[in-house]
Amino acid sequence: MRSRSTLLYDQCRTCRCLPLSPYRARRPRSFAHRHGRTSVGERFNSSDMPPSTVSSRHFYQNETLLDYAARSAKPVSLRQLAFFGLKLTNEKIIQSANFVRQELPTRMAHRIHDMQSLPYSVVRNNHISSVYELYYHSFNTIRRFPVIKTLEDNGLFCDVLRELLTHHTAVIPHLVMGVIECSDLIDSKRMDRFMESMLRSRISRRVLTEQHIALTDAFLKDPTFQPSEQVGQVFFQCSAADVVRQCDALARSLTRSSYEDIPIPELVFEGDVSTKFAYVASHLRYIVGEILRNTFEASLERYQAIRILPAPVLVTISDAPQHVIFRFSDQAGGIPPEIIPYLWSFVKGPRSMIRHHNFEQVPALEAIVEELEASVGHATGQKKPISSLASLTTRSPTLRLGMGLPMSKIYAEFWGGKVAVKSIDGFGCDVFLHISKLGNESRFVQENNI
Ligand SMILES: Nc1ncnc2c1ncn2[C@@H]1O[C@H](COP(=O)(O)OP(=O)(O)OP(=O)(O)O)[C@@H](O)[C@H]1O
Ligand SMILES: [Mg+2]
Repeated sequence: MRSRSTLLYDQCRTCRCLPLSPYRARRPRSFAHRHGRTSVGERFNSSDMPPSTVSSRHFYQNETLLDYAARSAKPVSLRQLAFFGLKLTNEKIIQSANFVRQELPTRMAHRIHDMQSLPYSVVRNNHISSVYELYYHSFNTIRRFPVIKTLEDNGLFCDVLRELLTHHTAVIPHLVMGVIECSDLIDSKRMDRFMESMLRSRISRRVLTEQHIALTDAFLKDPTFQPSEQVGQVFFQCSAADVVRQCDALARSLTRSSYEDIPIPELVFEGDVSTKFAYVASHLRYIVGEILRNTFEASLERYQAIRILPAPVLVTISDAPQHVIFRFSDQAGGIPPEIIPYLWSFVKGPRSMIRHHNFEQVPALEAIVEELEASVGHATGQKKPISSLASLTTRSPTLRLGMGLPMSKIYAEFWGGKVAVKSIDGFGCDVFLHISKLGNESRFVQENNI
């Protein structure tokens, strides 16, 4: 981690402001900017840019970025996502490709703009600047892709998208480590807002990208096929109880693989257990999986401490007019009061160093994740990761990253839902998950946030 004294070395000696471009870090005594001017257009000076990231063309590129950042992203509701793919044609696939081709650079430009607006000392953090560079590269790659006119063009475009999806898998660990390292440089609320908008936008881009790839694959396989159960990633008939059971099987297997002889609480269902609704199944599985992992981990810790067999977890499902509501009630002792102020934050307070250390292991963990997937495949019936969430969902339970709840909240809110926790210290927790039914609410949640 950087020390404060190193950072202060780069401060302007006239007005103590910080240089605006992250790339000026490598010329620490250069303060060519005019003090007090903060617009994005002024944050870059081509002569300061190292050749690696930002070439002599960067100034021009930044003008292009501003042009994209001035455009509004077009939010897509779950309903639109589901109904667009109901009957596919050549023209619709090409229309979808060009929509993605225009939306991705616009959405990335907004987030690059956000990064440029952070204090210089934060942007020059190694992790944040590597995300910045990746975003800039991806922004340029997609915006330069020519208009898609044929299915062949779309095939090439999908190859580029798949490659970008792979490159971006390391973004979350980098962002979280960067946020933790910079926690003493910026107000934690501002940092959390930055992180939330980065993650929300990331979800929105991945949803568009993965949906387009899925529709393309489905169309190429059978152009006449009319889906009845699933359009791309949207499942029309997600069964509330089945999703919980699948997540239970996976979380149980993962927990068992790390803690062999410790009892794991059983689930008991009540309420509208036969409820079905349309949703992006991978998102739902991620959120429910995180909630169950927390419950199991808290039960294990309690058992290790006081050797009391864990009481069952009560899963209540309610099919309300606008929402499907899940309540998970455990008796695992509740959340430690000192953790509660940091529950929804990525900055993490007293646990930040442990979380940082765990994140350092995430890239190295990928191989282990594959092994875990193979070993738990029988329990879950899933053979392959079905989305970018798969590696997070299957990480080892011993690797606590401190992001289960904050990420679940962002995923739930993305489609107009919410997650809330009520803890009774010394007794247990109730975790509430509200899922918005195929509504358009997510349009408003996403507006200006993607
Ligand atoms: N059901 C629960 N019972 C008791 N404590 C809980 C429960 N759910 C969450 N917590 C507490 O809240 C903390 C934060 O949970 P969160 O899921 O955000 O992160 P984590 O579990 O520490 O790490 P990760 O989910 O990334 O592996 C947990 O470390 C735990 O102390
Ligand atoms: Mg957790």
